[in-house]
Amino acid sequence: SYSVSSAFDFTPALFPLSTTAGGYTALGAPATPSFDRGGGIENLEKHKTLTYFNGLSLVVGLIIGSGIFSSPSQVNLRVGSPGASLIVWTISGLLAWTGAASYAELGGAIPLNGGAQVYLAKIFGELAGFLFTWTAILVLKPGSAAIIAIILGEYVVRAVIGAEVEEINPWINKAPAFLALFFVTLFNCLSTRFPARIGDGFMIFKFIALFAVTIIGIIAAVTHLSYRGPANTEWRDNGWFDNTSTSISDWAVALYAGLWAFDGWDNTNYVTGEFKNPSRDLPKVLHTAMPAVILCYLLANVSYIFVLPFADMNKSNAVAVQFGSKVFGPIGALLLALVVSLSAFGALNATTFTSGRLVYAAGREGYLPDLFGRIGLSSTNEQQRYTPQKLRTRNSMRKAVERIAGDSDGTLFLTPIPALVLNLLLTTIYIIIGEFRTLITFYGCAGYSFYFLTVLGLIVLRIREPNLERPYKTWIVTPVVFCCVSLFLVSRAVVNEPVQAMVVVAFVVAGIPVYFWRVAGRDGRGGRRGEERSWKFWRRWGRS
Ligand code: ARG
Repeated sequence: SYSVSSAFDFTPALFPLSTTAGGYTALGAPATPSFDRGGGIENLEKHKTLTYFNGLSLVVGLIIGSGIFSSPSQVNLRVGSPGASLIVWTISGLLAWTGAASYAELGGAIPLNGGAQVYLAKIFGELAGFLFTWTAILVLKPGSAAIIAIILGEYVVRAVIGAEVEEINPWINKAPAFLALFFVTLFNCLSTRFPARIGDGFMIFKFIALFAVTIIGIIAAVTHLSYRGPANTEWRDNGWFDNTSTSISDWAVALYAGLWAFDGWDNTNYVTGEFKNPSRDLPKVLHTAMPAVILCYLLANVSYIFVLPFADMNKSNAVAVQFGSKVFGPIGALLLALVVSLSAFGALNATTFTSGRLVYAAGREGYLPDLFGRIGLSSTNEQQRYTPQKLRTRNSMRKAVERIAGDSDGTLFLTPIPALVLNLLLTTIYIIIGEFRTLITFYGCAGYSFYFLTVLGLIVLRIREPNLERPYKTWIVTPVVFCCVSLFLVSRAVVNEPVQAMVVVAFVVAGIPVYFWRVAGRDGRGGRRGEERSWKFWRRWGRS
C-alpha cells in the first residue's frame, strides 16, 4: 500500500547509490512519521542493501568531479614545475587514501550511518558531532557546491566563447553557475528518484572524459600531432623541476587544490549502516577506489603536461578546454567543455542530493528549526495527524499530479524542499562572494579541520578502548601520517589566509550557543525529538 512515508524514508532500494546523510535517523529518531506502517519506526539500517560495487561507484562517482579538470592550473601555478606538480598530486592522493583507510576503521568499529557526526559524537561527545553537522550545513556543503558550480560556469562559458579569450568577467562565469544550481535544486525538489537516476548516467561521462584525456595526451605526445602546432616539449627541453617553488605556503595551497580533486572519500561512511557486510566491504571499497583514482589523476596530469605548455595551463581553471583546443582546435575545445560541464553538473547534483538529506536530518534532530525537517510543503507533524481518510484524499490528489508529470512511484514532491531551499540560498551566497581559488582554500581549511579531529579520534579511541571490536584495523602509521599532514595544512591556512581561517573559526564557534540552546539538556527537559536518539545511541555505545 502507498504511504506518505514511503518516499521519504529514503530506502536504499530507491537510492541504491545515494549518499544518505539522512542516516542520522538511524541513530534512533523516527526516520519518518510511521503513520500507516503499523506504528513501526522505519530505520534505514534495517535495509542492508549496499554491496561492494554499489559502494565503489558511490565513492568513485563522487570523487571524480570537477577537480581533475580545473585544479591542475592552481597546482602548477603554485609549485611552478611539472615534476613538483606530479609530486603534489601524489601526496594529495596518498593523503586522501590514509584518510579513507582511517575512516574505514572507524566505519567498521562504529557501523552506523552518519559519518563523522557519529564518530565525533561517540569519541568527543555530542557537541563535537553537532559542530560538524553545523559546519557541514553552513560551510562544507554549500561551499563545495559553489566551487563545483563556478567550475561548471567557467566551462560553459568557455564552450561558448572558446579557450583563447584570457580575461573573462567573473560574473559572466557565475551566471551559468546560478542557473545550473537552480535547475539541480529544482530537480531535487521534484522527485528523489530523478536525481539518483541522472547521477548514474553522469558517472559514465566522468570516466569517458578522464580516459579520453589520457589517451589523447599520450597519442599527441608520441605522434607530435596536434591542431595548434606540435605538442608541448617543455617537459623534455626543460628539467622536470625547473622553477620549482621553495615556499612552504605555495606547496600548502597547491595541496589544497589537489586534495579538492580527491575529496569525497568520506562519502561511503555516511551509509555504512546500509552495507550488507560493512566490515568486509567498506575497507575493500576504499582500498580499490583510492588507488584507482590516484592512478587516473596522475595519468591525466601527465597527459596535460605532455600537451600544454606550463604558462598556458596557468591562465584559467579550464585546463581541459585548453587541452582540447590544443589537440583538436575549436571542436575539441567545445567537446571537452561540454563533457566537463556535464561531469560538474553530475557532481553538483550528487552533492545537492546529500545536502538536502543532511539539512533534513538536522531539522528532524532538532538541530535546526523544524521547518527544515519537513518533506514537501507540509509539516511532518501535520503528516502525523493525518487520518486514513485524509491520507486517501491526499494520495489521490498526488497520484493525479504524478500522472501528469509521468512520475509514478509516488515520490513526486516528497522531497526535503525547505532543506534544499536553504542549501540553495547558502550556496548562492558562496557563489556571489567566492571565487574558485579562494573557496578551495576556505573549503580545505574547514574540511580538513574536521577530518583531522575525526582521525585524531581514531587514535584516541585506540588508546581509550583498546578492546572495542574493530573488524578492520588500519596500520597505526596511517592515521598518524594523516593527522600530521592535515594539521600542517590547517596551520598553514591560518598563517597564509588568516581572514579565511578566522571566518571558518567564527562559523564553528557560532554553533556552540546554538548547541546549548537547541540540543544540550533536551533529554532532561524531555523536550525535543533527539531524546530517543540519544537514549538509543548511548545504550548501544555507552558514554565513555
Ligand atoms: N572531488 C570532487 C571534485 O573533484 C569534489 C568533491 C566535493 N566534496 C563533497 N563532499 N561534495 O569535484
